[in-house]
Amino acid sequence: MDSGKSSIDNSLRGRLLQAGCCTVVCEESVPSTNDHAMALSSQWGISDLPAIVTTSHQTRGRGRGQNSWWFGDGALAFSLLIEPSQFGISPPLWPTLSLAVGGAIATVIDRQFPLHNIRLKWPNDVFFNGRKGCGVLNETVPRSPERLVIGIGINVNNSLADAPLEVQQRATSLIDLAGAPLDRDELLIQIVEQLLSDWSDLAAGVMALPDRWRRLCLLSGSCITIEQSGERITGTCLGLENDGALRLQTANGPQRLYSGSVVDF
Ligand code: BTN
Repeated sequence: MDSGKSSIDNSLRGRLLQAGCCTVVCEESVPSTNDHAMALSSQWGISDLPAIVTTSHQTRGRGRGQNSWWFGDGALAFSLLIEPSQFGISPPLWPTLSLAVGGAIATVIDRQFPLHNIRLKWPNDVFFNGRKGCGVLNETVPRSPERLVIGIGINVNNSLADAPLEVQQRATSLIDLAGAPLDRDELLIQIVEQLLSDWSDLAAGVMALPDRWRRLCLLSGSCITIEQSGERITGTCLGLENDGALRLQTANGPQRLYSGSVVDF
């Protein structure tokens, strides 16, 4: 299925279909690609998935929790709608899916910018030179809990000079690091290819994936605080396990965490 009204180049649609997406929606502008994918989900059967929704302009991007996601012109914003089972990913593997998303993005960006210290911040943020450059919002589709929308925002050709002050203080973009614009479509294609391939590897238990997360882990060795269900847990990050857990050495002994937000690191 190939749908969407936009001036976005037809070759991008073709390349996304070739990369393994079964449905491609390219919109000039939407409030949120996650919301758009959720709204379209009921029109799609399993053979239409994975579906991708991408846009040149996102006006009300959402972040995790109550956060909003700043979108500057030139940023990359897209959402993939999948049924993890179509990749052979069963519910117990869902925690690793989150790491696999961040790991795939970090791998592609690291390949292109090896000098910019590209790191994965558990569970799925990607940092460039110590600042956040990519955020991921995973949400289940309310009426189809077997479906997942994976929303990805990457600061590519949007300079942080145009961002609100609080975003400037903690984020960065690839154009600011590289000093020149990048081929945003090419980056999108490479990330989609890497994601689809890594999800199949995840189901097959390919060990290269957790090894890669461990190598890219930003938090290993640092004293961090994680907020989980209103509670704060502080300790030294001992790294990531094969099942997606973050190991934390706390004053009360070692803990393994599968969810939460890192509030201090
Ligand atoms: C976060 O770090 O808090 C997650 C940010 C996720 C932003 C992306 S941009 C594309 C997709 N659509 C949204 O509304 N949010 C995600």
